Amino acid sequence: MDQPKAHEGAHHDAAHAVEAGLYREAMSRLVAAVHVITTHGPDGRAGFTATAVASVSDSPPTLLVCLNRRIRSASAFRQSGRFAVNMLGAEQQSVAESFGGRGGLEGEQRFGVGHWHEGALGLPCLTGAIAVFQCRMVEIRTVATHDVLVGRVEAVTLGPDKAKLAYLGRGFLSV
Ligand SMILES: Cc1cc2nc3c(=O)[nH]c(=O)nc-3n(C[C@H](O)[C@H](O)[C@H](O)COP(=O)(O)O)c2cc1C
Repeated sequence: MDQPKAHEGAHHDAAHAVEAGLYREAMSRLVAAVHVITTHGPDGRAGFTATAVASVSDSPPTLLVCLNRRIRSASAFRQSGRFAVNMLGAEQQSVAESFGGRGGLEGEQRFGVGHWHEGALGLPCLTGAIAVFQCRMVEIRTVATHDVLVGRVEAVTLGPDKAKLAYLGRGFLSV
């Protein structure tokens, strides 16, 4: 008989706090699109890979990104007040890995993977991305470990509508 997986059958009731590992295990079953969030701060370009991206409204176009405050470039995002959300295609997994911290690259070094150009708002935009949203920060809400960045979308670039990069079960897949 198969051994039950670590968290299988685990549940929560109002009297008990949900353990972080259980929460992460459940969230690993969420199919998420993969993005690289970039900015141009006082010390140059910076960026990180993010699945925690959501649309807030289309009137006016507004989205949010959740940024772990421990990320080294977190202050660059606060200081610049602008960011770009680059939605990755399936063949851009190496970009997601670079900006996810794999290989120990930081800051400007991460832009050595993929082809980058400066967008109309002066933000780093990934050439060949599925879509790029350039945003002006309208609110930063600190929640638990993260900064929720709320961005007003000031420019959208539509790239090729090809296979998308997704993240599920702690691995990448093509959708
Ligand atoms: C697929 C994937 C999704 C990620 N999603 C997020 C996210 O939504 N928010 C976040 O703060 N970090 C996320 N990360 C982690 C950051 O990309 C990572 O911590 C960051 O690049 C580290 O930067 P630093 O080495 O400069 O501190 C994700 C990483 C990967 C590989």
